[in-house]
Amino acid sequence: MKLFTAHLVDFRNLSARLEFSPGVNIFVGRNGQGKSNVLEAMHVAALGASFRPGRLGDLVRFERPAARVELGIEEAGIVTPVVVTVSLAGQRQMSVGGRENASLEDVAQHLRVVFFGPEDLHLVKGSPSGRRAFLDQAIAGHHPPYGDRLRGYGKLLRERGQLLKELAYGSPPPTEILESYEEQLARHAAQILSQRVKFLREYSPLARQLVLDHTDSRLELEITYQSSFLPIVEEGLVEAADIYPRFRRQLAETRAADAPAGRTSIGPQVDDLELKLGGRLARFFASQGEQRQLAVSLKIAQLALWKERFGVHPVLLLDDVLSELDPVRARLLFSRVSQWDVQTLLTTTSREDVVLEGDCRFFDVEGGEVKWE
Ligand SMILES: Nc1ncnc2c1ncn2[C@@H]1O[C@H](COP(=O)(O)OP(=O)(O)O)[C@@H](O)[C@H]1O
Ligand SMILES: [Mg+2]
Repeated sequence: MKLFTAHLVDFRNLSARLEFSPGVNIFVGRNGQGKSNVLEAMHVAALGASFRPGRLGDLVRFERPAARVELGIEEAGIVTPVVVTVSLAGQRQMSVGGRENASLEDVAQHLRVVFFGPEDLHLVKGSPSGRRAFLDQAIAGHHPPYGDRLRGYGKLLRERGQLLKELAYGSPPPTEILESYEEQLARHAAQILSQRVKFLREYSPLARQLVLDHTDSRLELEITYQSSFLPIVEEGLVEAADIYPRFRRQLAETRAADAPAGRTSIGPQVDDLELKLGGRLARFFASQGEQRQLAVSLKIAQLALWKERFGVHPVLLLDDVLSELDPVRARLLFSRVSQWDVQTLLTTTSREDVVLEGDCRFFDVEGGEVKWE
């Protein structure tokens, strides 16, 4: 799947019609002209949300009622229209191939993206929630039922929390009810944990190899799943059927401690990924440059796994990557991307920084208008 055309209307400061190259598309312009907004439009279309914080309604151009992103996506010679509109109130509507009320999964049949931008440094330096989100998106992006599972799990967590509060504050619910919630909760948790561990088994060696390549074999990456539910790590549990009974037991044991806050203290919602470079925690000991390199490598490894293992062909969105990497690393990244035949959209303030072979197109971005030759 490749982006063929885009028509952006009142999406932030943009009004533009674009025709893409199947290779690398380079958006050039001074700061504040709308380059990242172009990538953001693709991100919103593919994933339903921005990579920036804020409300969906923020995407609508000031003083306008709605933003619209119309994409033509090409696959085997057939172009499918995908249209996403966002209202000022933050209502999102999508259509795919002319069919209204499409879901994100319908869109994902035609468009997937892998995004890297400066904010991804948080993958290394930030809180566990960012790393969990990355992992979840990487799994759900090739296996949509995982996303449903996560949403179901979130709902059950809220329901258990409510019951626990009732338990703590004087009106205890019948034990069978609590137990039946915990049973369902444990089934969901076991599936999620199992899928995460299985994903990491395939993902980690790839990420490790990429970091080696990108650091002239200087740095070895170690990724460890840090589970709040210890047997996963200690006993190396992988299958949901093995995780479930132990998790369920542990859940019952945490009941009293969890009750006052109504918060479940073990499970996928509190876990983390530990990232070590050369045996030391990257978040504390790696240099700024190494952390950036690691963040890029984590995203590129996701792309490599999707492509090679799961047959998913995402569009790569690279925001300001040239200011994140030194020129040698950037060249390495580009040569890899062109070998893989991955359609790429990238932004830069300076055209001279981009050294590319193969199919590419330069776009000039100024004041929300986009031109190309
Ligand atoms: N909702 C909006 N309506 C109109 N303009 C917006 C909106 N949100 C952001 N902008 C404008 O978009 C510009 C930033 O675009 P951006 O793509 O981040 O720039 P850059 O080219 O540096 O990547 C700013 O000028 C900002 O004022
Ligand atoms: Mg930008």
